[in-house]
Amino acid sequence: MNMNEIAQGAGGAVAESAGRKIGDVILSLEHISLAFGGVKALTDISFDVREGEVRAIIGPNGAGKSSMLNVINGVYHPQQGRIVFHGKERRAMEPHKAARQGIARTFQNIALFKGMSVLDNLMTGRVTKMHHGLFAHMLGFGPGRREELAHRQKVEEVIDFLEIQHIRKTPVGRLPYGLQKRVELGRALAAEPSLLLLDEPMAGMNVEEKEDMCRFILDVNDQMGTTIVLIEHDMGVVMDISDRVVVLDYGKKIGDGVPDEVKANPDVIKAYLGAGH
Ligand SMILES: Nc1ncnc2c1ncn2[C@@H]1O[C@H](COP(=O)(O)OP(=O)(O)OP(=O)(O)O)[C@@H](O)[C@H]1O
Ligand SMILES: [Mg+2]
Repeated sequence: MNMNEIAQGAGGAVAESAGRKIGDVILSLEHISLAFGGVKALTDISFDVREGEVRAIIGPNGAGKSSMLNVINGVYHPQQGRIVFHGKERRAMEPHKAARQGIARTFQNIALFKGMSVLDNLMTGRVTKMHHGLFAHMLGFGPGRREELAHRQKVEEVIDFLEIQHIRKTPVGRLPYGLQKRVELGRALAAEPSLLLLDEPMAGMNVEEKEDMCRFILDVNDQMGTTIVLIEHDMGVVMDISDRVVVLDYGKKIGDGVPDEVKANPDVIKAYLGAGH
């Protein structure tokens, strides 16, 4: 390997990985506006997401990033605008429909069952795929027995993928924060999503935990072909792993493009300096 090859390998881990292919637009948000009473969380936001890409949403606190994810998976219904997902147009998503259509997510504040084991938490990620109820599965009897085995197998694959075999029986509440975040990613992956929404997956992590999480996110994207929409405050991480970045500030879109474009955008620089980031 000469210096040139080493230099290429060190930069832009995403762009140079072998099997990646960015496809057509699969999700398009058009003129989305969302208000809570007098608070305008989102104002006339438009952007799209292409199949197979890592798409970041960034912006200062309160910019509307989480609200945007909540619009995409149907938790919030915008007053204006439309959403087109795989060619189907709608004013608003419904969360269960979004899940059935292959959209999974993690939350800014970890949303897991703290008293339940890692394994059982991951099983809850299979709910949209289950024909028999979750509790029949957990009790392990009835007509769902064979189906249960198939779900367990999928969950075991996720456990191997995320390297969490050693904690599979541990109650989630006893795990350190970084591992809880990884389990939450696992719960989302157990649903076999085509579109994965991650709300600050690395917040509160130390450097090593962030590196691990980055690697898992890139592996999910690369090896499973999963499209990823990611909110993250760590600019180093965002610029390193994203194909395109959309920037929100006070509910408005102030930038959109590849990392280099966004980094050079004067409005973006101003918003970040102004907000003390
Ligand atoms: N359910 C809600 N009810 C009322 N106001 C809300 C609600 N959700 C969000 N907001 C408001 O909408 C605005 C955008 O909030 P949002 O959580 O989307 O920002 P964010 O970019 O994710 O911020 P952060 O980086 O702090 O997570 C804020 O002013 C917030 O107070
Ligand atoms: Mg948020």
